Amino acid sequence: MNDLVVGIDIGTTKICTIVAEVRTDDIFVVGVGLEPARGMKKGVVSDIHQLSNAIAASVHKAEKTSGYQIERAFISVAGNHIASINSRGAVGLVGNRGVRADDLDKAIEEARAIAIPHNREVLHVIPRSYAIDGQNNVRSPIGMHGFRLEVEVHIITAASTSVANLEQAVQAAGVYPDRFILNPLASGDAVLTEQEREMGVALIDIGGGTTDLAIFIEGTVWHSGVIAVGGDMVTNDITHLMHVPFDVAETVKVEHGHALEKEVSPLETFLVQPFGEGIPIEFKRQDLAMAIEARMSELLELIQAEIKRSGYDGLLRAGMVITGGCAQLPGLRDLAQHTLGIPVRIAKPERLTGMADALRSPAYSTSVGLLRLGLQMDAVSGGAAAANGHAGNNARLSGFLTGLFRRLLPDDRDG
Ligand SMILES: Nc1ncnc2c1ncn2[C@@H]1O[C@H](COP(=O)(O)OP(=O)(O)OP(=O)(O)O)[C@@H](O)[C@H]1O
Ligand SMILES: [Mg+2]
Repeated sequence: MNDLVVGIDIGTTKICTIVAEVRTDDIFVVGVGLEPARGMKKGVVSDIHQLSNAIAASVHKAEKTSGYQIERAFISVAGNHIASINSRGAVGLVGNRGVRADDLDKAIEEARAIAIPHNREVLHVIPRSYAIDGQNNVRSPIGMHGFRLEVEVHIITAASTSVANLEQAVQAAGVYPDRFILNPLASGDAVLTEQEREMGVALIDIGGGTTDLAIFIEGTVWHSGVIAVGGDMVTNDITHLMHVPFDVAETVKVEHGHALEKEVSPLETFLVQPFGEGIPIEFKRQDLAMAIEARMSELLELIQAEIKRSGYDGLLRAGMVITGGCAQLPGLRDLAQHTLGIPVRIAKPERLTGMADALRSPAYSTSVGLLRLGLQMDAVSGGAAAANGHAGNNARLSGFLTGLFRRLLPDDRDG
């Protein structure tokens, strides 16, 4: 039997469970379970009972299509309770010997030993770079000689209560959450190229309720954050503009929406039936585009402010990569490129094999990324999940995970 890996992306709009077999040189999707989200608002749990029912339904669909029973999974996390900081740690190398793996562990452990408020928990500790005896920018210190090893890490924390609510909902759906993974890290893994990560890039995942952001420079994550605003805001604007229910506004946005007013002909119109009207009313597509452009410009300014706040705005030579369901909005690329003044690319998951056709959309970047990144984190941490049969044989993973290792190290080194 093949080893399995399962990811559950718990979004504000949809819940997506993916089951994949871990094969010699890749992961192969064997089942997908899609379910509209319930009990989630702006990336956090608003109703545990409803959410857990929705998760159970998504998991059940994935079990039916794959023929496997799902026991454990990697779970996505977002919400504006997410915070990130950078920290440093150091360790002495006795006797000028080559650096060993346990030296890295000790240095990272020290970097991690900063005061984290007791109501927050550490989700990820990601080494950014190493220095040996003051020589900076050491990529891979193992085996190198020196007296003192220093590490710079990026630490991502979440509100303990938010994670606990998510954990409870997943467990109530009959699934053990193996590991929680921050949304934009998973999305980044699914859509970014090695070159973009090296050159410096901002990954933006615009979903229904949240906009997730991660900045990758020199191959690793330097900054991450979540803005509690997404495409739902545009849909809400349409409900006001046209006096229609949310689901009608959603259809209007998907079918007629455009992020650039000037790109839409003033002659284009469409029909909708507002509250209180006996017959459908004609609307100009350009008016719709004007409203969308205003709202998306606002969101892009929030994104720009967050990038500025990180202090890395001058380092994004590869510009920005936008994914998430909202990335499908026509005109968004041009609007973003114009507003931010950097190159912008719209992206969907690449490197997919198996029953993956339904997943080739920007909306599934987080879902797809959870699988590979979860495996990678487990492989590096000695495989807490692997030991429990989640991903069986680490040696088999090493083939397609090589090269990814440096990018992310585990949050729990004791696994
Ligand atoms: N073709 C389209 N054009 C414009 N917007 C779209 C299109 N398809 C989906 N969307 C929007 O994408 C959003 C949902 O994106 P996604 O599926 O990534 O959200 P999610 O992951 O469930 O939510 P979040 O990550 O914010 O918790 C919705 O606002 C939806 O209206
Ligand atoms: Mg999402």
